Amino acid sequence: MSDRASRGEYADRGGPAVRAYLEGVLVNAWEADVRVIPDEEDLIRTTLVELVDEAGCCLVITTGGTGPAPRDVTPEATAAVLDKELAGFGEAMRAVSRPHVPTAVLSRQTAGVRGSALIINLPGSPKAVRECLDAVFAAVPDCVDQVGGPRLETDRSRVTAYRPHGS
Ligand code: MTE
Repeated sequence: MSDRASRGEYADRGGPAVRAYLEGVLVNAWEADVRVIPDEEDLIRTTLVELVDEAGCCLVITTGGTGPAPRDVTPEATAAVLDKELAGFGEAMRAVSRPHVPTAVLSRQTAGVRGSALIINLPGSPKAVRECLDAVFAAVPDCVDQVGGPRLETDRSRVTAYRPHGS
């Protein structure tokens, strides 16, 4: 989510950072469905719903729009489309970010499930992408399993998926 990247005023750097992270961690074959959209709450909601309900994405990762500025509405839009919020994701990502940036406390990022998908918000900084995903990714495959999504396999030299509900 970025007003300026969506207008082409600068290149989106969050999306490519997410893609690079997933390319390094997932060993499944997967495809990305990439959107660069402005910080409009209605549009964010409809885009999230489309990605999960129509495109069939099992993992939706957003970057940007999590802070306190008036145009930052990603967490509100996300919460509105979730079946269940998973507050532990935001807590873990903020905790791991605090030693890196004092302003980590400004991020209201959240996560949760909708249908068979997990939706995770990340801050807009590309540096935050790796820091935050490293903090939570071990729990991602089990979450997707539990909501009936596809089995995600990780490169164990990067992230070992913890699967208490199955092997
Ligand atoms: N977390 C990490 N790991 N790295 C960062 O650079 N930036 C912070 C915070 N969390 C940051 C971070 C800042 S400055 C803000 S305002 C909030 O995330 C929200 O960022 P966003 O509005 O780009 O989503």
